[in-house]
Amino acid sequence: MNQLFQRKPISDLLAEGPHGLKRVLGAGDLIMLAIGAVIGAGIFSSIGTAAAGEVLPTGEIVRYGAGPALIFSFVLLGIVCGLAGLCYAELASMIPQAGSAYAYSYATLGELIAWIIGWDLILEYAVGNIAVAIAWSGYFNSLLSGFGIDLPQYLTHGYRTALLSSDPAVHALLQTAPRVAGIPLLLNVPAALIVGAITCLLYIGVRESVRANNVMVVIKLIVLTVFVGLGAMHIDPANYKPFAPNGWAGIHQGAAIVFFAYIGFDAISTAAEETKNPQRNMPIGILGGLAICTLIYVIVGIVATGLVPYQQLRAADPLARALEVAGLQTASWFVAFGAVVSLTAVLLVFQYGQPRIFLAMARDGLLPGWAAKIHPKYRTPHVTTVLTGVVVAVGALFADENEIYDLTNIGTLFAFAIVCIGVLVLRYQEPERPRPFRVPFVWGVSLAGAAACLYVMKGLPTHAWERFGIWLVAGILLYFVYGYRKSNLRRP
Ligand code: ALA
Repeated sequence: MNQLFQRKPISDLLAEGPHGLKRVLGAGDLIMLAIGAVIGAGIFSSIGTAAAGEVLPTGEIVRYGAGPALIFSFVLLGIVCGLAGLCYAELASMIPQAGSAYAYSYATLGELIAWIIGWDLILEYAVGNIAVAIAWSGYFNSLLSGFGIDLPQYLTHGYRTALLSSDPAVHALLQTAPRVAGIPLLLNVPAALIVGAITCLLYIGVRESVRANNVMVVIKLIVLTVFVGLGAMHIDPANYKPFAPNGWAGIHQGAAIVFFAYIGFDAISTAAEETKNPQRNMPIGILGGLAICTLIYVIVGIVATGLVPYQQLRAADPLARALEVAGLQTASWFVAFGAVVSLTAVLLVFQYGQPRIFLAMARDGLLPGWAAKIHPKYRTPHVTTVLTGVVVAVGALFADENEIYDLTNIGTLFAFAIVCIGVLVLRYQEPERPRPFRVPFVWGVSLAGAAACLYVMKGLPTHAWERFGIWLVAGILLYFVYGYRKSNLRRP
């Protein structure tokens, strides 16, 4: 039992961590980093299901939509993520290491929990990217149709999407698609191709620089400003009635899916060691970034639900669709273009992060040695880069976006909750260790943060819980079969 909860000494983690980094980032840079990692498929795509809800072709309601009251979902999530973000910042400033939540939990809650978190982060990074790739494909197709190019629908919709869609035209693809050995050929080809292209870039070592990030942030902000500016002039106040068609249940369940729009701000906590005066700038960066994203989301939500009746947002490209329905064709293409660019950047960030988490786990002996291999020429973790690329591309071919959002959200919220608890545990285990950034009111923030994450998780459909359960059990089995025996902590 003790062995399962054996902790990796922080001094070991620090010895592995990056050293001699310059403290160059100010609060403004952190805010830009946050916006760069965060704004993506969540606001461009999952917003549609969050507003409109989800209904199966059988008429069964999977979740209620928030309707125009979606703005309350965004505010709720801003608060939840703010609490978790502060806890991330404390651990990141103490343990500046690439493994993020995995490394923090190894030092605080022990090996078994760390393994579970590392396993769980696959849901945030690799599985989450399946949804981003599908959202990318949705906007890419709407961009192409602006140029008069319409790919056959069976090559732009995965099997699960057709199976679950309540849109009769999409559901009918199950019948109309060509068949191979009796199985309908339904593949989201653009989604898989973009993942393939990004994997090639990462294999040879392309990395988003701070400058490239700033360019992306500007593009995202211009596109969303155009959406808001033009859309606001075409709002029909009648669309705001009823304002909260499904009451609090809709707001809660809407929040549980649109949480995807907030994933990624945890990544900025990893810049703690490169931040000037982290005690001041980290909370400003995290909370400021969150406040700005929340504000942007609220405004986009107000405009989107004012442009068209909220039910019409149920689409692969809801923001472009809303403009199109409102008769703003050119603006719709422009937004589709901006979405394609923004989502490419998000794909790059997470496709870059996943192999490095595998690397951290392999170095600890919890994954086989090949996962820690570095390419002799490009100096990239090429084996895990390719593995991640193949898994995400194949997933993107077949999967349904909403199912993936659910799985990613439940996994990420669980990791957030553990990080919140980890902060408190470490305050007692190692009270003396220097903390460049300390969470204020730690008891309140950490317990409220963990409880709030669990509450948002509760808004996800039953199938998400079941799949998450299966994922965890599979992970734990794998740990006992492999990691438990091979862990470096137990090597002489
Ligand atoms: N928050 C990121 C997105 O919405 C993951 O794409």
